[in-house]
Amino acid sequence: MSLCQLSLTDFRNLQSTTLDFHPGINLIYGENGSGKTSLLEAIHICCQAQSFRQHHLVKCISHESNRFLIFGKYENYKAGLSKSDKRLDIRVNGESISRQSELARLTPVKIFNTDTFELLTGPPEFRRRYLDWCLFHVEQSYNQNWLNFRHALRQRNKLLKDRRDLHLLEYWDDFIVEPSTVLSYLRGKYCENIAAILVAELGELLGEMDISLEYQPGWNISQGLLESLQVNRQRDIRSGYTGQGVHRDNIIILSQGRPVKDVLSRGQLKRLTLVLLIAVLKIVSSYRKNPTILLIDDLKAEIDEMSESIIYSALSSINLQTFITNISQGIPAAIKGKEFKMFHVEHGMIKPRKFS
Ligand SMILES: Nc1ncnc2c1ncn2[C@@H]1O[C@H](COP(=O)(O)OP(=O)(O)O)[C@@H](O)[C@H]1O
Ligand SMILES: [Mg+2]
Repeated sequence: MSLCQLSLTDFRNLQSTTLDFHPGINLIYGENGSGKTSLLEAIHICCQAQSFRQHHLVKCISHESNRFLIFGKYENYKAGLSKSDKRLDIRVNGESISRQSELARLTPVKIFNTDTFELLTGPPEFRRRYLDWCLFHVEQSYNQNWLNFRHALRQRNKLLKDRRDLHLLEYWDDFIVEPSTVLSYLRGKYCENIAAILVAELGELLGEMDISLEYQPGWNISQGLLESLQVNRQRDIRSGYTGQGVHRDNIIILSQGRPVKDVLSRGQLKRLTLVLLIAVLKIVSSYRKNPTILLIDDLKAEIDEMSESIIYSALSSINLQTFITNISQGIPAAIKGKEFKMFHVEHGMIKPRKFS
């Protein structure tokens, strides 16, 4: 669902404003420290009540205020968020909602910035998050199973930590295994889907990189999860947490059979990260009538010009609304001739730039 209009009050260093966006491409430029990333952050929060920067939304409240307000008008709904020191209120079409996921499922949003590269170089959590973003938006059964799993895991871990009522561990094992079966199946299936897209549609972007993706369950697969939990029970009691399960899953990404981290150059890793991002954007947008929002922070600083133009052309085949920040006012070659809107950010003041 494209974001038509955004209103901000007391958000970071940005002056209170209302902005009308282009349904396709929005370019944002301004000097370092002017507020470009803050604008992208406000859009991200408007879509899913979470930032990509800090876990604590309270940090986004302007130093001069004690709460921020964000209102977004999408094509067929309105979202409103108000965050104070203690409270976060989320409204959709004027009605209060209690779960962040109710807002998040309406418009998928994805950020591309320096941190995105941790998908390849960071711990398994980054790869799980990458895959789960896609599952959350395309698979009905994902979210409830994830919530059920998380609840069961927390209960089991609490028993292990407190070392009390340990006879209940067996009871929670079943509640861990049931949703895990679904989650594990979905993660495996989507790893295959992504791998297939890389080969069939994104080979040109990958060039000579021969990439394979493999889902690796977070337990000994020769045992199965239930048996694995039972066999490792004493170890879990000693360590105080559950050592096996989908919370320990990984995606193994290889180039010619070797871990990409060990064999690809920094430039290739960046290119591969982008290609993987494009693959999930393709999957998510193919399941949805309305556009997905892609935020690209400082693209020029991250990749070379050649990658940039290949990437823009790959993105143009996906139903996206994009917001792209840059220090300079220059229009990327691949965008010339297309319709877009441009905004200039200066000391927290955001102004649309008119072309005559
Ligand atoms: N809660 C806040 N209140 C006021 N100013 C803030 C707050 N958080 C960050 N800032 C300031 O906002 C400015 C803009 O930051 P940022 O959006 O990262 O700029 P850019 O991406 O254009 O380089 C920074 O100078 C930062 O110090
Ligand atoms: Mg920035």
